[in-house]
Amino acid sequence: MLIDKYGREINYLRVSVTERCNFRCLYCMPTTPFSWKPKENLLSFEELFMFLKVAIDRGIEKIRITGGEPTLREDLDKFINMISSYNSDIDLAMTTNAYFLDKLAKPLKVAGLKRLNISIDTLIEEKAKKIAQKSVLPKVLKGIKTSLDLGFEVKLNTVPIKGINDNEICDLIEYAKELGVKIRFIEYMENTQADQKIEGLKSDDILNIIKKKYEFSQPKDDKMSPARYYDLKGGHSFGIIEPHKEDFCGSCNRIRLTAEGLLVPCLYFKEALSIKEALREDNIDKAMEILDEVLRNKPEKNNWNLEDNEISARAFNETGG
Ligand code: 5AD
Ligand code: SF4
Repeated sequence: MLIDKYGREINYLRVSVTERCNFRCLYCMPTTPFSWKPKENLLSFEELFMFLKVAIDRGIEKIRITGGEPTLREDLDKFINMISSYNSDIDLAMTTNAYFLDKLAKPLKVAGLKRLNISIDTLIEEKAKKIAQKSVLPKVLKGIKTSLDLGFEVKLNTVPIKGINDNEICDLIEYAKELGVKIRFIEYMENTQADQKIEGLKSDDILNIIKKKYEFSQPKDDKMSPARYYDLKGGHSFGIIEPHKEDFCGSCNRIRLTAEGLLVPCLYFKEALSIKEALREDNIDKAMEILDEVLRNKPEKNNWNLEDNEISARAFNETGG
């Protein structure tokens, strides 16, 4: 079992396979010009798998593939298959913008991927264009439909932003209800790379909007997920992920691995350690020592409020949100 210094069991690993993305979401992508990292800097699937096998043996039970947009990485289905063949009990999920799922959902399902979290911030094409800075909505909707037809368990993720999609919260709940899938509203996490003009809604703002149309229960925690879920009267439920809440970090069970091999103990914590060299030297013991050090360093709480700009300077497309 992997336990951090504060007694939290770490059983959830988020693995970013690329920082590249075909969208430019306002809340995620850096606004200043940047270039993609050269492909040779990325860990190969074999290198990643070397690490994952031992991480699974030591207690990782849930693996989420993230990006950037993970479906941009070639042969992703082969990587999924390596993991699911090694241990079919792993809760193997992926976070995606769904753009390529009309084609890729099937091979990913065959390879053993179980669940998908799909980002959808609006049901209006013009707004989708504004948020993703590209015309994306028809392909996203099609990707969602294809995934559901194939039997994937799907959850939807929405980041409500003032003046952009905050008037669509109830419409998105209705959309999720019709599809029979859960939707989670994620509080915007401020970071210095993203568009500085946007302002996210906090959970109370989101609940106040939903309250005008629906009655719902007291929240319930889900042990394996950062969301709190509310049951709607008359059926269905929605979730809110509220990283601004005081108690959010107390139940944190996760660490992140970037596509270049940095083990990141917390989104809002500067120190991260690289396992790339250890893996390239085929030295798994060294990689595990680094993992242990990262767990020792995992902060009790995120360092978000410190007046240190660098802390919020890690772009979300590198850490997979
Ligand atoms: N704040 C909150 N959520 C974010 N995501 C990316 N950037 C942010 C941010 N700044 C989440 C979105 C997206 C997923 C890939 O990561 O929900 O769906
Ligand atoms: Fe966990 Fe880090 Fe998020 Fe806090 S900020 S909840 S420690 S991932």
